[in-house]
Amino acid sequence: MRILITGHTGFKGSWLSLMLASGGHEVSGIALDPLAGGLYEAARVGELLHHDVRLDIRDAAGLRDAMSDCDPELVLHLAAQPLVRESYADPRTTIETNVLGTLNVLEALVAAPSVRAAVIVTTDKVYRNVGRLDGYAEDAALGGHDPYSSSKAMADILTESWVASFPGVPTAVARAGNVIGGGDVSKDRLMVDLVAGFVEADPVAIRYPDAVRPWQHVLDCLSGYITLAGSLLRGGEAGAWNFGPDPDGFQTVREIADAAVAQWGGTAHWVDDSAGTHPHEAALLTLDPAKAQRELGWRNKIPFPESVAWTIDWYKAVANGADARTVTLGQLDRFAELAPDAPWLQALSNVSR
Ligand SMILES: NC(=O)c1ccc[n+]([C@@H]2O[C@H](COP(=O)([O-])OP(=O)(O)OC[C@H]3O[C@@H](n4cnc5c(N)ncnc54)[C@H](O)[C@@H]3O)[C@@H](O)[C@H]2O)c1
Repeated sequence: MRILITGHTGFKGSWLSLMLASGGHEVSGIALDPLAGGLYEAARVGELLHHDVRLDIRDAAGLRDAMSDCDPELVLHLAAQPLVRESYADPRTTIETNVLGTLNVLEALVAAPSVRAAVIVTTDKVYRNVGRLDGYAEDAALGGHDPYSSSKAMADILTESWVASFPGVPTAVARAGNVIGGGDVSKDRLMVDLVAGFVEADPVAIRYPDAVRPWQHVLDCLSGYITLAGSLLRGGEAGAWNFGPDPDGFQTVREIADAAVAQWGGTAHWVDDSAGTHPHEAALLTLDPAKAQRELGWRNKIPFPESVAWTIDWYKAVANGADARTVTLGQLDRFAELAPDAPWLQALSNVSR
């Protein structure tokens, strides 16, 4: 299948490109330049792509032309400014990229006759945070305290309204929580900061050790997006879908940092910086994945402690000189073997017109 990924140079987009290209699909991507040292560069993702387009998704006409050149059957929209702290520093770029960029993708879908389905990626942070313990289901109210969260909630509402107003390409929204995995190099992400500190033997200061997040390995999250895409291609329901862990994945930052320290070993440790002054971030975020479990047969397959172990093992192996593509594809094989009946494995097979 011909698949276009926006944001393919980023963390999730690089894993997704490797997953889909190694599954025999013709993958193209539209994004900005990759960050130095990230998975895209380390695993030489560009070599596997049919079209590797560098374009700002705020450029509506350019996006329309690039999508037409890629001629995709399936579009997975991941490109975004995804960092909460960066959204405080530059709210305009965050909102333009995440909201108007999504509008441009939705408009380009209408102009691309080859497209049969699309998945728009938002986040668990779209939910209006009222400190729920039992997880937000898809019909919970949307909101967003910080510019990143509100921009994603706007993109989410925009997509729902667009699909209702201009039906055509089946388009669904995928909401997932914090993902971890090898090859992420973004600023202000817990696992990235921890590993950098472990490598440099310079302990990381953690701002919100008691914040709770629905942690998930990136492969589990992406298997949800692929399962959803397969369902859309078979005429399944569009709408919004949560892809989160079972409750064992709702962990504090402290618990995940401790698990990472134990897995890395040696002198690794972290320090509590909760007394410092930091911009607001939600203390508690949980996600209810029951709808995707029930209706798509999708479920998180890598439980919490293993998701940390897979992540740390990836960084350790690459830090010790292993080839990043080989390590990544090895984890992908392990993931496929973990649940050979998982729906994502067959989701994009036998869906020809
Ligand atoms: N990483 C997480 O924990 C997490 C959690 C929930 C949701 N998400 C969502 O998943 C998606 C991917 O996140 P990620 O972690 O891979 O982020 P990332 O920062 O690693 O990658 C972002 C990608 O978007 C591209 N991009 C950014 N601005 C762009 C622009 N103006 N034009 C074109 N491309 C642009 C970048 O080039 C990159 O390829 C985002 O939509 C994000 O909001 C991520």
